[in-house]
Amino acid sequence: MISGQVIAITGASSGIGRATALCLAECGAKVVLGARHEDGLARLKEEITAAGGQAVYRVTDVSRREDLQSLVGLAQQSFGRLDVLFSNAGAMPIGPFDDLAVDDWETMVDVNIKGVLFGIAAALPVFRRQDSGHFIHTASAAARKTVPNQVVYAATKAAVLAISDGLRQELAGHIRVSTILPGFTDTAFSEHVRNPELKEQLQKAGAKFAMSPEAVARAVAYVLEQPEGVNIGEVTLRSKAQP
Ligand SMILES: NC(=O)c1ccc[n+]([C@@H]2O[C@H](COP(=O)([O-])OP(=O)(O)OC[C@H]3O[C@@H](n4cnc5c(N)ncnc54)[C@H](OP(=O)(O)O)[C@@H]3O)[C@@H](O)[C@H]2O)c1
Repeated sequence: MISGQVIAITGASSGIGRATALCLAECGAKVVLGARHEDGLARLKEEITAAGGQAVYRVTDVSRREDLQSLVGLAQQSFGRLDVLFSNAGAMPIGPFDDLAVDDWETMVDVNIKGVLFGIAAALPVFRRQDSGHFIHTASAAARKTVPNQVVYAATKAAVLAISDGLRQELAGHIRVSTILPGFTDTAFSEHVRNPELKEQLQKAGAKFAMSPEAVARAVAYVLEQPEGVNIGEVTLRSKAQP
């Protein structure tokens, strides 16, 4: 039952996070939006409230531990609790090792891995006090299939998968943990790829087989619609066209 749940979403300003916020708010969730760019968050909040939903936002950089604490605090101040943390923010400046884009490797580790861990650190004490809660993490189909030019990205997403499954086991009986593994999705992610050939390749592949971010949002809704006693561990989804 999604209606009435307080759901914090990181990476809410665009792509999968944005589509999920809209989808869950439409189902009656109270959404707490986080990302670095305030303009995208403010527009999304306006869109949700204009449609009769409830949303608040706070500028959040998931690579900063205190920002996640603040986002979780906003959920509690605004709505009295936190039911779900959807740690979805991700950085994807992929490229071949030969580019030696070491700063990008560091960004992917900081956002994709530490961002998830800092979310756990912020929300776990709240979930423990409530004796209920649900962590949902966005990994990637790349977590299971490493391909050239995406190795550091795939490694961070494999880490998300490992963290999520271990967390699920430690929290079993009290708090649910689920991971979403999307395939190619039509979002802004390829804009952040610096390597020009790779960027072109990705854009061509995207035109052939990317699925919509709304498809991923529906998978998140499916995970949340399960009865209280059921924990969906992992959902992998791709467009029908993606090999
Ligand atoms: N698109 C795909 O094909 C695909 C496939 C599998 C998995 N994924 C995963 O899906 C998730 C969402 O990505 P997307 O495809 O929707 O791409 P996107 O449209 O580029 O969205 C990425 C989101 O993450 C936020 N973000 C980036 N760095 C952040 C930081 N340091 N702190 C807080 N927020 C940050 C961005 O907002 P700001 O810039 O405003 O901070 C944005 O809202 C990511 O975890 C990605 O790895 C994507």
